[in-house]
Amino acid sequence: MDDATHSVTPGAREVTRPAFTFKVRRRGLSPKRQREFDEWITKWGIDRNGPVLDWNEVFGPNREPNRGVVLDIGFGHGESTIQMAQSQPHLDVIGVEVHDPGVVTVLDAIENVPLPHVRVVHGDLVAFLRRVGPLSLTAVRIFFPDPWKKTRQHHRRLVHEDVTAALVDRLVLGGELHLATDIKDYAALMQRVCDADPRLTGGIVDRPPDRPLTRFEQRGLNEGRPPTDLRYTRTA
Ligand SMILES: C[S@@+](CC[C@H](N)C(=O)[O-])C[C@H]1O[C@@H](n2cnc3c(N)ncnc32)[C@H](O)[C@@H]1O
Repeated sequence: MDDATHSVTPGAREVTRPAFTFKVRRRGLSPKRQREFDEWITKWGIDRNGPVLDWNEVFGPNREPNRGVVLDIGFGHGESTIQMAQSQPHLDVIGVEVHDPGVVTVLDAIENVPLPHVRVVHGDLVAFLRRVGPLSLTAVRIFFPDPWKKTRQHHRRLVHEDVTAALVDRLVLGGELHLATDIKDYAALMQRVCDADPRLTGGIVDRPPDRPLTRFEQRGLNEGRPPTDLRYTRTA
């Protein structure tokens, strides 16, 4: 099914971006890992295209209907997704990532840890957002999105007004948007965009101890770039 087949639910904005927010990488999986990927994605994957999702259908018939759902965007190698899913078993998690090695790492954890309250979207968040209804997410996490450091690349940054507004449409009242970056001007952009959304209240916070250290964050620390965390609550 093609990306444009389904129109968005009223109350939840659609995003169209002329350029991808991620780098297209060609690193493949070993034949064994590819077989595991193919088997597990059919069990635990959500197609990025399709109609608006019902969380009770996504997470199974025995799900308590009032469980919160977290959208974990661009999870990379999955360290924080896996660790937070283990430490917060009361929250259902949808992780979105384009790159196969990270996707299969999280699928492996779902299958073998196990983490039956986690699902994976293998694809672009911008397309998948059409499947997420308004007021349906308890939290959105974007940790260390691709920095796109050069000024001419800034339009590729994930956190701009369009994506932020579309994400806030989908947060419940009281829901949280948690962002982190180690790029100073990206943190300033995040703060500017979030402060300008009248539905959000919050700002820069100390690094939360419950946000796991990932290899991306460690690399930034090694290179002298401490992280900035921003936490906003949807209050209107
Ligand atoms: C720098 S890595 C950070 C990974 C992880 N969040 C961490 O803190 O270690 C950013 C990740 O976001 C993913 N990404 C960027 N844009 C995306 C999009 N539109 N949809 C899904 N994933 C995306 C990239 O593929 C990349 O793996």
